[in-house]
Amino acid sequence: MMLEENVVLSQAPILTPMGIDGTNVPLQQKTKDACMTQAVDYLGLTGKVCAVTGAGGGIGRAVSLAMAEAGARLVLLDRDADACAETAAALAEIGVEAPCIACDVSDPSSVTAAAKAAGPCDVLVNNAGLLRPGPIATLALEEWNRLLSVNLTGYFLCAQAFGAAMLERRSGAIVHIASIASRFPQGFSGAYSVSKAGVVMLSQQLALEWGPSGIRSNVVSPGLVRTPMSEAFYQAPGVAERRAAMVPVGRVAVPKDIADVVVFLASARAGYVNGEDICTDGGFGRTLMSLVPRPGFEK
Ligand SMILES: NC(=O)c1ccc[n+]([C@@H]2O[C@H](COP(=O)([O-])OP(=O)(O)OC[C@H]3O[C@@H](n4cnc5c(N)ncnc54)[C@H](O)[C@@H]3O)[C@@H](O)[C@H]2O)c1
Repeated sequence: MMLEENVVLSQAPILTPMGIDGTNVPLQQKTKDACMTQAVDYLGLTGKVCAVTGAGGGIGRAVSLAMAEAGARLVLLDRDADACAETAAALAEIGVEAPCIACDVSDPSSVTAAAKAAGPCDVLVNNAGLLRPGPIATLALEEWNRLLSVNLTGYFLCAQAFGAAMLERRSGAIVHIASIASRFPQGFSGAYSVSKAGVVMLSQQLALEWGPSGIRSNVVSPGLVRTPMSEAFYQAPGVAERRAAMVPVGRVAVPKDIADVVVFLASARAGYVNGEDICTDGGFGRTLMSLVPRPGFEK
C-alpha cells in the first residue's frame, strides 16, 4: 500500500505491542516516517558496537550473525584465530565487515589489550567457554583452575575491561552465556556447573552494581545445543535422537535459538530487564516430574 509522506495512518485504534517505555501506543498517533523508523530499528541495535567472546564457536558465530542482522557492528574475539576468521567470513557474506581480535579471556593482559583495540562497546556478549567433563573425586586442580579461569574469571575480566567504557558513557548491555548446568548438577561435570553457577551470580552482581550507571547485565542459559563443544556426544549412535526426545519442543537447539535471546536481551526491547537469567532449553529443565514412575499416567 502506497502512503503519502507523513500521513497519519489508519484512524482505527490499533495498538502496537509495546512503546519504548513499555506502554501500548495507539498506532494512529504515528506518522508513516515514525512507524518506518521503528520497524527498521525495532531492536535499537543499529550502529551499536557489540563485542562477542568465543566468536569463532557455534553459539558465538550465531550471536555475531544475529547481531549483525539486527544492525549492530561486531568486534570478534577468540583465542582461536582461524575460527574467528571463519566467523568474519560468514559476516562478510552478508556484507558486514568485523575485526577479529586474538584474545585469551583467561589472560588479564590479553583481555585489556583486546578491550583497548576494540574501543568503546555498547554490548558485550560473554560467551567463550570450555567443557572438561570429569569426576570431582579425581579432578586435577589444574583442570579445575583452567576451567574456572576461562568460564568464570574470563567473564569477570571481560566485564571489567569492556565495562569500563560503558561505565564512563553510562550506557551498555552485557549478556553472559551460562547454562542450565548452573541450575542442575550433572554427573562428571567437573568444574563446569560450578563455573556456570558463578556466572549467574556475577551477572546479578553486575546488574546491581552497574544498573545505576545505565548498564544492564543478564544471562542466557542454554539447554542442549549442537555446537563444536558438544558435537562429540552427538557422534555416538542414537544420542541425537535420544536427546531430542527428552526436550518438550522435540528437538535439540541450534545456535540461532540461543542467539535470538541474546539479541533480545542486548536490545532496547529489554531495556527494563536487568539481572535475569533466561533459560533457553525448549522446556528441558521442566521435565523432572516426568521421570517419576506413575502407573497409568506414563507415555
Ligand atoms: N553447546 C552447548 O550445548 C552449550 C550448552 C550450554 C551452554 N553453552 C555455553 O555456550 C558458550 C559457547 O559454547 P559453544 O557451544 O558455542 O562452544 P564452542 O566450543 O563451539 O565455542 C567456544 C568458543 O570459545 C573459544 N574459547 C575457548 N576458550 C577461550 C579462551 N580462553 N579465550 C577466548 N576464547 C576461548 C573457543 O575457541 C571457541 O571458539 C560456552 O560458554 C558454553 O559453556 C553451550
